[in-house]
Amino acid sequence: MSAANLQLDDNNKMRHFLSIEGLSREHLIRILDTAESFLNLSDRSVKKVPALRGKAVANLFFENSTRTRTTFELAAKRLSADVLNLNIDTSATTKGESLLDTLRNLEAMHVDMFVIRHSESGTAHFFARHAQPGVSIINAGDGQHAHPTQAMLDMFTIRQHKGDFTPLKVAIIGDILHSRVARSQILALNTLGVSEVRVVGPKTLLPIDTRESLGVHVFHDIEEGITDADVIIMLRLQKERMTGALLPSEHEFFQRYGLTESRLKLASPDAIVMHPGPINRGVEMETVVADGKQSVILQQVSYGIAIRMAILSMTMQPRGETS
Ligand code: CP
Repeated sequence: MSAANLQLDDNNKMRHFLSIEGLSREHLIRILDTAESFLNLSDRSVKKVPALRGKAVANLFFENSTRTRTTFELAAKRLSADVLNLNIDTSATTKGESLLDTLRNLEAMHVDMFVIRHSESGTAHFFARHAQPGVSIINAGDGQHAHPTQAMLDMFTIRQHKGDFTPLKVAIIGDILHSRVARSQILALNTLGVSEVRVVGPKTLLPIDTRESLGVHVFHDIEEGITDADVIIMLRLQKERMTGALLPSEHEFFQRYGLTESRLKLASPDAIVMHPGPINRGVEMETVVADGKQSVILQQVSYGIAIRMAILSMTMQPRGETS
């Protein structure tokens, strides 16, 4: 079954959140609008709403995370859910328990929603195919495939700064080949109708047939790729996913593709600089750029809470209701 069929119910509502693929512009706008409605909550003395009171959310992170895991936890708590963070290193997974048995056992404890990160592409879809009626699955990053909540918080950040998506030129720079974030961002940007999506990087770090498969313009020269861009998204070198020698050295990568103050001057004067994190300073970008006035990197992290509140609240099913 395709991701689209799996994540939407018969009324075209989100049942799971697995991928940007198969979601319409209207779905994405609804997520952004819902997140916006949660934005002011962070400024209140009591940062809670009752939307998920009585519900249980389990964070299952089989791969390391700082931003995604903690913002999902905060998002679920701000929606008044009970939150369970399974420590994979001390769980029965280390004794050989299968993913399916882990799901079944936590479902037996009446967990309503699972937030899953795993190094294998397709793990969230596997959970969604096997979840009981009334249980929702959220993909928090699967292998090199998708990181849809990251893409949505990135779209939210862009909308907060730029308003309209349609005139924008967006340059995504670095290791596109191994990046689940880039894949999800490109789908979201094209669905939201930006003027141009550019990917910039060495041939060894771009998928084969990138232009056709992703619907983007390809640049191998950062200075060409960045010229007049309104939004610059830097990506981390995913060394843990690289097999073989795909680049000579980090130093050479920075020389050819690092975002420096002088290169940034080629972009639109009010361009914003983004990075999903974690940043490797001096590899993808200079510290002065990462911390500079055009950087919105920490705003991306803050907006992650509102976006994840939106996605949790929009996918939560009434217990026992089938779809
Ligand atoms: N952007 C992102 O997914 O960061 P974490 O790996 O820290 O969750």
